[in-house]
Amino acid sequence: MRIGSFGYDVHGEGPPLLLLHGFSFDRTLWDDNIAALASHARVIRLDFRGVGESPLASFSIDDLADDAARLLDLLGVPMAYVAGLSMGGYAALAFAARHAVRLSGLILADTRAGADSVEVKRKRDAGIAQIRHQGPEAYATAVLPRLLSSLAPTEMRERALRMSIQAPESMIAALTAMRERPDRQSDLKNICCPALIVVGSEDVITPPDEAAAMARAIPGAELVTIAGAGHLSNLEAPDEFNRALIDFVVR
Ligand code: MLT
Repeated sequence: MRIGSFGYDVHGEGPPLLLLHGFSFDRTLWDDNIAALASHARVIRLDFRGVGESPLASFSIDDLADDAARLLDLLGVPMAYVAGLSMGGYAALAFAARHAVRLSGLILADTRAGADSVEVKRKRDAGIAQIRHQGPEAYATAVLPRLLSSLAPTEMRERALRMSIQAPESMIAALTAMRERPDRQSDLKNICCPALIVVGSEDVITPPDEAAAMARAIPGAELVTIAGAGHLSNLEAPDEFNRALIDFVVR
């Protein structure tokens, strides 16, 4: 479905819950979460620029946050729970900084508030070069082992790989936006809506100690650690992930 220049869909009734996906996925990253979440909330899924049904236009992470706010405008939703996983979490943190009054609550899953280190910025550049020279599939294949825990079944790995292959220019735009994003650690103490941090115990991209640090820094934040799940905790452990979000939204 499209509205304005946004690919999106809406499921269920209840408090609005906007889902912001990670890199390099589109809104189908949430396919295993929709049915459960939509029995408790009005779930809105957005495709970030360049993936799914949303056309590419160059962007920063702040632009993704503003897109999310614009989509809520177009749907006539004044306030929502905003849940972002990984890159979606970077956008959710930018949303909290730029559109705080629209937040019923903030859910940060498998993400971090800090900017990229010098080493991570170098890896982003190497990733961009790999996409340019070898193509998106080579990049996605190289990254896959870090997205899921070592116990994830082959079928889940193959599915995650298929889902993570996007147009090269879209993947490059997202890597560039993540590399340039600001450090938002000092914003955390100013978040005044209810906040939930979710992390897979086996997440090696945005590990549990960083999640715990975010939970300590946000006043009153709750932390849920999903045992055995890797970075894509929503995909690897959908029941536990859904339960954490439902318990947070429905109270
Ligand atoms: C994501 O899952 O969105 C990315 O792995 C985040 C990142 O690379 O920083």
